[in-house]
Amino acid sequence: MAATRGRSGGRRSKAAAAPLRFGPALMARLDELAGITEVPGQLTRRYLSPAHLAAKARVEAWMAEAGMRVRTDPLCSLFGRYEGRAGGAPAIMLGSHIDTVIDAGKYDGALGVLAAIAVVAELARSGERLEHAVEVAAFGEEEGSRFPTHILTSSALTGAARPALLDMRDADGISVRRALAVAGGDAKALRACARKRGEIAAYLELHIEQGPVLEEKGLALGAVTAINGSVRFRVTVTGFAGHAGTVPMVSRRDALSATAEMLLTIETLAMSTPDLVATVGRIKALPGAGNVIPGRVEFTIDMRSPDDGVRRRAAKTLLARLREIASRRRVGLDVETYQENPAITLDAGVIDTVAEAIAACGHEPLRLPSGAGHDAGIMAKLCPSGMLFVRCKDGVSHNPAEAISVEDADLAVTALLEATRRLDRRLQAAG
Ligand code: HGY
Ligand code: MN
Ligand code: MN
Repeated sequence: MAATRGRSGGRRSKAAAAPLRFGPALMARLDELAGITEVPGQLTRRYLSPAHLAAKARVEAWMAEAGMRVRTDPLCSLFGRYEGRAGGAPAIMLGSHIDTVIDAGKYDGALGVLAAIAVVAELARSGERLEHAVEVAAFGEEEGSRFPTHILTSSALTGAARPALLDMRDADGISVRRALAVAGGDAKALRACARKRGEIAAYLELHIEQGPVLEEKGLALGAVTAINGSVRFRVTVTGFAGHAGTVPMVSRRDALSATAEMLLTIETLAMSTPDLVATVGRIKALPGAGNVIPGRVEFTIDMRSPDDGVRRRAAKTLLARLREIASRRRVGLDVETYQENPAITLDAGVIDTVAEAIAACGHEPLRLPSGAGHDAGIMAKLCPSGMLFVRCKDGVSHNPAEAISVEDADLAVTALLEATRRLDRRLQAAG
């Protein structure tokens, strides 16, 4: 799905010359939050780590300061609530995630949470109440950096999280269940995380684009139309460990050499298939000694496409090619699918509202798909959902070089506030 241009030109609003109302404070908070990490000198904040809990406590204080009532759900996600004109009304939920990848950038996830808090703080400052309540979600597990449980916490909110996911273990063998107990969560109350249909009238997530399109077109904001589908595999290649100095090359069953051929096959397939990307992000060769022929290799494959048919056909082709390599090299092959998410088309009404809000801020409302996955892709199963993208420098993300400008941060809050107000009116009119 290509990006499409909106109606008006790319003129900057008069507001560009006006003082920045939200940007400087938002950037300062993003810097502060980025300092809460598991690894000094880089930003790594994995689900249920002490850093996640410390960040959650900081966000909780900001939510309370903004006039929200705050609660933590049994899976340690955080929700702030700002009531509408009548208490107990269905909510427009804003937000994103506060966990990060390993050695992450400052803005992936955190920007959406802190900008949403800035929106509520602005409503509260002027005493403005909408027809709907506004809730801000700080999801705890979106990235799957510690456990193989990507988007676990938004899945729990929609009631789609399977209890078996709580038995997934991290590299130290600690299960989600155990980590929750240590963090003060409650795995047994997984079902209680689920929100009833109607409680959340719509979900709107502000996020950096994590790609180059907006920047290439000289645009600050975009209305997201769809989220690519993804499938994630865990692959184990089993050869035979041996002495690096004595085993003749022709008689080796070298699991790492076989894997090397498989990795190039994965890359070649993705390079030759339009609308498909594939990544091997994690690999472990065992036993991992320099003078031992690797007997076992474990690696992950992350494959995505806007078109589920393309992705599924490519996965089938890939599996056949990996099997052929394994048999020719006389190694064992085990491929486990541990997660699959279909491509999601976001809600047309929310997309239009986001586009209108961008235009109301004096900017061209480009509509574009997301190559990255988001909580919005899961929330779309529960309620009308959409996303507002902000450009990021060189399209870089999942990298400490991730960057946005203070002007774009400022504009993002203004646009998110505008979109929230418009969504409130649109939902009210729809009855
Ligand atoms: O992997 C993703 O697309 C997201 O950043 N978790
Ligand atoms: Mn991410
Ligand atoms: Mn993200």
